[in-house]
Amino acid sequence: MEEKNNKKILVTGGAGFIGTNFIRNILKTKPFFSVVNFDALTYAGNISNFADISSIYDERYRFVHGDIRDAAIIGKLFDEEDFDIVVHFAAESHVDRSISGPEVFIDTNVNGTFRLLEASLKKWNMNGKPDDFRFIHVSTDEVYGSLGDTGYFTETTPYDPSSPYSASKAASDHFVKAYYRTFGLPAIVTNCSNNYGSFQFPEKLIPLIILNIMERKDLPVYGDGKNVRDWLYVIDHCDAILTVLEKGKQGETYNIGGGAEYPNIEIVELLCDLMDKKLNRSASRELIRFVNDRPGHDMRYAIDASKIKNELGWSPRFRFEEAIIETVDWYLNNTDWVDSVRSGEYRHWIEKNYSDRSVVE
Ligand code: NAD
Ligand code: DAU
Repeated sequence: MEEKNNKKILVTGGAGFIGTNFIRNILKTKPFFSVVNFDALTYAGNISNFADISSIYDERYRFVHGDIRDAAIIGKLFDEEDFDIVVHFAAESHVDRSISGPEVFIDTNVNGTFRLLEASLKKWNMNGKPDDFRFIHVSTDEVYGSLGDTGYFTETTPYDPSSPYSASKAASDHFVKAYYRTFGLPAIVTNCSNNYGSFQFPEKLIPLIILNIMERKDLPVYGDGKNVRDWLYVIDHCDAILTVLEKGKQGETYNIGGGAEYPNIEIVELLCDLMDKKLNRSASRELIRFVNDRPGHDMRYAIDASKIKNELGWSPRFRFEEAIIETVDWYLNNTDWVDSVRSGEYRHWIEKNYSDRSVVE
């Protein structure tokens, strides 16, 4: 797709971790793009992520508070605005929450995606089926299930999800592909590995461990800590999505990954050592606690990103060893943000679900 002036992008879930980074990046680097951020502001969405920049970019940025499950509000939005691109991030995204309460994952991730596809298709048909319209569905490597010690997920690896979260994302991926094959909607699916960076909600491993070290709390490591994740700096993920929306081929899937595989215990130990240096302390590793494993815990994720590299020319720009330090610094310098997102619902959920988490050593 060629870049032309004045593209209007609908970003769903733009007040969450990756959506926030994506929108901030676009506003700063793509002067011809305007953005509508559509977000329900669940516990994971934070509108103040844009407080410092929304007035600077007020002609190119609009926030709409709404739920992707609500056909009426989505319909109204598509009546009001002519979008060239939809980038669909909105989802329930935390695996542990999908185990303690799966229903909202089906509602938002499956039904919500269906509503968005319907509204996009209706508008695309009304506009005469423009070939350069794009529906980018941001999905996860977790749809592929678990790897053993060797091998990588490719775009043709069969789907084999383990958690209610990954099953709901898998279902939504299938709907997106069905809307391309059946109705011709120019859609693309991206499947990405674990992200880290600024604005990530502190229920996920990296920010949770950083904050617990800061507060000298236990550091919960599931099982034996040997599960492996393939980490990608969020800015690299955002660049990859931009590359896909500018150069990607409709109907295709692109895997996105950082090639930075680490067992969880190594991540936790690294964060202990980095934080000890930053805070002029020692012995944070003594806070590590091996706790009961996550049910259905996938052993290893690893992405083969050669398709997006070879066909679209994207590669990660950031090295894990450097970007993880940036990330630690961001959390150390943004304790107000942390306090605001951890008040209320999050604290309540942690107390309800994790209070009986037993230590297994
Ligand atoms: P997040 O939980 O930080 O943010 C999700 C956002 O979606 C929040 O702003 C929330 O308010 C919004 N939202 C939730 N339900 C909604 C609804 N019904 N209607 C409208 N908005 C709603 O998630 P994230 O980590 O930024 O992930 C974004 C997307 O990327 C998800 O689809 C996720 O599956 C995918 N993904 C995430 C990662 C990762 O490592 N975080 C990796 C690969 C793919
Ligand atoms: O792979 C992409 C996925 O990465 C995304 O689709 C998800 O939205 C995102 O949440 C993430 O899923 P994970 O389950 O891999 O992320 P999480 O941060 O929850 O856990 C990372 C690893 O750390 C995992 O093996 C579980 C482990 N873990 C997690 C927590 C929260 C712990 O050992 N202790 C913890 O307290």
